[in-house]
Amino acid sequence: MRPDPLPGSVRAPVVPGRRPLTGHAGRFRGDALRFVCELRRYGPVSKISIGPRPVHVVSSPDLVRELLTSQARSFDKGAMFDALRVPLGDGLITASGDRHLCHRRLLQPAFHHARIARYADVMAERSLARAASWDPGTTLDLVPEIDRLTLDILLRTLFAAPQDPDLHTAVKDWLSVKYHAMRLALSPLHAWAERLPLLPAWRPPDDGPLRRLVAVQHRIVDAYRATGHDRGDLLSMLLLAGGPDGALTDAEVTDELITLFLAGTGTVSASLAWTLYEVSRRPDVQRRLHDELDTVLAGRPCAFDDLPALVYTRQVLTEALRLHPPSWLLMRRAVRPVTLGGVRLPPGAEVFFSPYALHRDPRSYEEPDRFAPDRWSGRAAAKAARHTYLPFGAGARLCLGEDFAWTELTLALASFTARRSLAPAGSAPVRPLAGTVLRPDRLLLSAHARPS
Ligand code: HEM
Repeated sequence: MRPDPLPGSVRAPVVPGRRPLTGHAGRFRGDALRFVCELRRYGPVSKISIGPRPVHVVSSPDLVRELLTSQARSFDKGAMFDALRVPLGDGLITASGDRHLCHRRLLQPAFHHARIARYADVMAERSLARAASWDPGTTLDLVPEIDRLTLDILLRTLFAAPQDPDLHTAVKDWLSVKYHAMRLALSPLHAWAERLPLLPAWRPPDDGPLRRLVAVQHRIVDAYRATGHDRGDLLSMLLLAGGPDGALTDAEVTDELITLFLAGTGTVSASLAWTLYEVSRRPDVQRRLHDELDTVLAGRPCAFDDLPALVYTRQVLTEALRLHPPSWLLMRRAVRPVTLGGVRLPPGAEVFFSPYALHRDPRSYEEPDRFAPDRWSGRAAAKAARHTYLPFGAGARLCLGEDFAWTELTLALASFTARRSLAPAGSAPVRPLAGTVLRPDRLLLSAHARPS
């Protein structure tokens, strides 16, 4: 018999459809996005299981806020981040407790506004070059193009030229190994392996690319340390952080760099791809975007100082991140007994929440599945956003690269759209792939030159 909940606490309802051995894992393999949205039917906190591992799902925006802010100290990051620690090491995304606080403080200066203004030149120049290589009148799958662009930008903002000749290949090889952190977190077999030590533990499919990347990075770090000056890039800031006494060790710098490769590429690529997907399907939105870009830029390339005036462009991006948040499912794990929405969670309890489901909740957004950038005009919108809009998370673990990402996305969107109009091409529907990041499987678009 299951024990009664503690006095004053309630038991989270178990979501129907639990299967022996696998629990609800099959629902994530089917239509995961629909499943996470359906979970809100079962109340603010419900319970599912991944194999033998019970998981509480938080579906209320207020409780998610509580989880990420006022109760944040009672949680670390959970199963997906355990899986990520194998390829990433213990960088900011996976670190917990004091180590996280200390590293966050050290990394912050690399993301200050003034620093991002410097990275913006690289972002604008690379975006324009990539967009210019797309000839008007031709059709292109934008997904690989955008992947190349975001990696190019990240490498050039992390490491100012001249770059190590092996770096690009080493990062690309490492990124091409599929570590499948989300798949592991949702795998019943993996959950059983934790319980039954006789099953083999998960190992990366091939750790060669990781070792090679670390070796190249050590070479670069040595060269930077030898000169000791600020080259205007992210790595210089990591090395200068903390001064002579509190500086990061080489191993810590390497872990942080690897974390930034992962955190700063797939998420931005997915956001830009989804935005272009929506814009290409909405001539009315595209017209207003063109009007704004024509007025603000008057034919010039977009630059950092233009960003505050690109109000509608920002609304378009905001709405794309609402409908298609790259971090569609996030996780935490209780590190001490804690009560959430009246439900008592023991230490070790895993908790899921889905920005995707929160962003499509009809209690928060009218016609939630409609792409409507106008819902972000005016002050009321900003207020609503504080509770229900979480593409970058919230609280102490809020995305450190948020301003970096907005800057890059705005400059890239302007570069791809200012001089051309976009239209969907091909008859196959674009399918969402809900992996560690939510991204489109492909994005075939045709570009037509706009009359100048
Ligand atoms: C549109 C693009 C991006 C999205 C949607 C995004 C989303 C997120 C989310 C949701 C989190 C919090 C995860 C959690 O609470 O469990 C996060 C954390 C983080 N992101 Fe981003 N991110 C983006 C771009 C970037 C970029 C460009 C960088 C760096 C160049 C970056 C670096 C980080 C780091 C270092 C963390 C860990 C922060 C911490 O735990 O203190 N992100 N991101």
